[in-house]
Amino acid sequence: MSEVGGGGGEVLGPPWSATVRRGVDGALVVGGVDVRRLARTHGTPVYVLDEVDLRARARGLRTTLEAAFAPVGAEVDVYYAAKAFLCVAVARWVHSEGLAVDTATGGELGVALFAGVPAGRIGLHGNNKSDDEIARALDAGVGRIVIDAADEVDRIADAVALRQRGPVDVMVRVTTGVHAGGHEYISTSHEDQKFGLSVVADPAVGGGRAALDSPAVAVMRAVLARPELRLLGIHSHIGSQILDPGGFVAALGKVLAVRAALATTTGVLVDEVDLGGGFGIAYLPGDVALDFERIAKDLAAAAGDTAAALGTPLPRFSFEPGRAIVGPAGLTLYEVGTVKPVRLADGSVRTYVSVDGGMSDNIRPALYQADYHAVLASRPGAAETVPARVVGKHCESGDIVVRDVQLPADIRRGDLLAVAATGAYGRSMASSYNLVPRPGVVAVAEGASRELVRRETDADLLALDLG
Ligand code: LLP
Repeated sequence: MSEVGGGGGEVLGPPWSATVRRGVDGALVVGGVDVRRLARTHGTPVYVLDEVDLRARARGLRTTLEAAFAPVGAEVDVYYAAKAFLCVAVARWVHSEGLAVDTATGGELGVALFAGVPAGRIGLHGNNKSDDEIARALDAGVGRIVIDAADEVDRIADAVALRQRGPVDVMVRVTTGVHAGGHEYISTSHEDQKFGLSVVADPAVGGGRAALDSPAVAVMRAVLARPELRLLGIHSHIGSQILDPGGFVAALGKVLAVRAALATTTGVLVDEVDLGGGFGIAYLPGDVALDFERIAKDLAAAAGDTAAALGTPLPRFSFEPGRAIVGPAGLTLYEVGTVKPVRLADGSVRTYVSVDGGMSDNIRPALYQADYHAVLASRPGAAETVPARVVGKHCESGDIVVRDVQLPADIRRGDLLAVAATGAYGRSMASSYNLVPRPGVVAVAEGASRELVRRETDADLLALDLG
């Protein structure tokens, strides 16, 4: 049996990362490393990140957006959204590919800084920033803080004053009323949710004149009134796992209109517009990911037309993709345990394949009814397939990893199973439910693997328990 990972077949293609293929004897190979070797070296379950793929996506997004906006004369900056998954190595990779890093908590900020990302290339978000998080961001000298609520204006400005610093760049996060995203919990710009400030006029304010009487513009004016702050721009993030490009274009138009209105009344035309992240990816074979080239060109064209119609020069643009960079670059490798045929009410049989992880390493199926794709990874398996459900080892029936998938009929205990596209919001949302230690994260590239985040152990869990 060869495990060198050389030779072998064609790459599998989406939803797998770019280097995933079947090796000569039919086992999966990722980054040139046979999954059996990964399991032996690092154990299972394990998150596997394809470094070449991740870097290519980061670089590709940046260059695609830059190229699309160049003809209309606008510069572009891409922030990697750390919440999708951050560790020191990933922070370094995205930084070396020319991306900045978007953080939403002190924890994410701390990892980005520790990794050596220059503070000026880090942004801080958060709908409930603590005083400590604001202080850490200011002391580090982050490039921008995104204001999410009215009281943050004075809280941040006072903290700047205390430090006797020059003005700090801030953006104001707005909600445009555009609904988008794969699930209600991850669409973030409709009215009845906690993020941002509405650009829709508040009837309780003034005469209700369009955007100028909106909570968003009120906060922008408050920023302009504080000399410790510089209003760098307007931020709009409309949701996550968005596959329909229309929402981005609609939000862009609204943000540019607010920017122009603010300029008319205050004389201040802000430099930057951030359109957030949310670019959708393929999770299942046949899924079509958002076409970046298309959306980048559409956005650039719409930006050019809208700015011309409004009579304002274009701002620079920034984006904050997380999932689109790290999601497809990751897979999770599990070992199969119990295999149980279950007779369904209609008389058919579903094969329940239990793996050695579950909702603690991927909460997305339970939380968002997210669908994933899996294959038998350690061998080709029988040609005949059976309808299967991949489940975890946790004590609830909602502990589903892959709801519906055809797997080889001879799948059995000891096989390795790979689940595609788990790089985003897998490890970053992992828990140690049932006191199952969280898996480690391993990078693969050019035939070698290296642990980026150590697997948690029972001892780690006990170390927090003070008895
Ligand atoms: N920027 C802001 C301000 C955000 O709130 C988010 C995601 C992003 C950027 C990155 O979005 P992405 O490009 O990754 O879609 N846990 C959910 C996703 C929550 C997204 C929250 N905000 C999931 O597993 O689907």
